[in-house]
Amino acid sequence: MIQAFRFSRMPQLILGPETVGGLGKIAASFGRTVVLVVGSSAIERSGHLSRILDDLNGFGVKALQCRVAGEPSPATVDQAVADLKGKHVDVVLAVGGGSVLDAGKAIAAMLKENGSVVDFLEGVGQRTPSGESVPVVAVPTTSGTGSEATKNAVISRVGSGGFKKSLRHDNYVPRLAILDPRLCVSAPPPVTAACGMDALTQLIEAYVSTKASPLTDAMAMDGMRHLIPALPDACGKGAADTACRGAVAYGAFLSGVTLANAGLGVVHGVAGPMGGVLSIPHGVACANLLPYAVKATVGNLAAMHPPLSDTAVGKFARIGKLFGARQEDPLDCCHHLVDCLYGWLDLLDIPRLGQFGLTSAHVDYLMKAASNKNNPLPLSADQIGRMIQDRC
Ligand SMILES: [Fe+2]
Repeated sequence: MIQAFRFSRMPQLILGPETVGGLGKIAASFGRTVVLVVGSSAIERSGHLSRILDDLNGFGVKALQCRVAGEPSPATVDQAVADLKGKHVDVVLAVGGGSVLDAGKAIAAMLKENGSVVDFLEGVGQRTPSGESVPVVAVPTTSGTGSEATKNAVISRVGSGGFKKSLRHDNYVPRLAILDPRLCVSAPPPVTAACGMDALTQLIEAYVSTKASPLTDAMAMDGMRHLIPALPDACGKGAADTACRGAVAYGAFLSGVTLANAGLGVVHGVAGPMGGVLSIPHGVACANLLPYAVKATVGNLAAMHPPLSDTAVGKFARIGKLFGARQEDPLDCCHHLVDCLYGWLDLLDIPRLGQFGLTSAHVDYLMKAASNKNNPLPLSADQIGRMIQDRC
């Protein structure tokens, strides 16, 4: 008997090398004026920006450029919207990493609202988004957050009183996602590793989530089946290989679809508040927290008498098999998974949390601000504290 579940809309998906070459024609199908949201100069250096602008121009589409540096803050979004207010915009094209895609989604939504984006952020503002939005076409140049497939945009303010919160509505799922692995080949190994570990964490957390469904299970498993063998190569000898980059991009896209429909777990319940107090790449935070979170969650599941959730242990064991576990006993496969996740921190050269200024002075605040989200079993406050300190 299948349990009841609900599945939100997905973007239309175009995946493959050179698919970004169709952007001009696609943009023209929405209208004559686009807002082109891009990040730092990387896309300019790669030559992709000039090719996209030429393509838009060739189809008679006018591009209003909007630059976003780093993770989008409320000020970034509000300023972009103020600059664009009163101008007719047919579509927002966001071409860049997860921060650029989030900025594009937030700008597209706020073009239809009055007031600051802060007013509409979950847990910060008092207003509910209308759900109206300019259509968004998302073109990721890194493979991590899955923002090209999600219904939220993460907005952060770092420092005292800082936050990392979402602007969220079902209608904010981009209309179209274009995954062109050629756009990802210039991402350097540290960026590829951090983004890929964010995607892997999202796939694992959605797969074992208490809100998982058979549909998200199938998608999360397929995402991991592609991403796990490809990610180490994408950070090294396969960096220029579009098949390898495409596998990671596909996994990241599915991480977005599954997190939007099954939710996340304790790693994201800690990484969110951590990103509000420290400038730490989100994927680095996830990568550091993931091994201990899996170890403690499996330990809590195994300690239940009778076991509360054979299903969750079985799911962690299946992930362990994707990492090469050969053991018969599911718990042995889980332990293999934990060992591999710790091993990947060295394999992928993930910096420790302490390198970004995390100290034991932050632990009390983070323990209070953290949540377990949809973890299969909650970790205790003490376990969350140890998880944070594990990789200080
Ligand atoms: Fe994430």
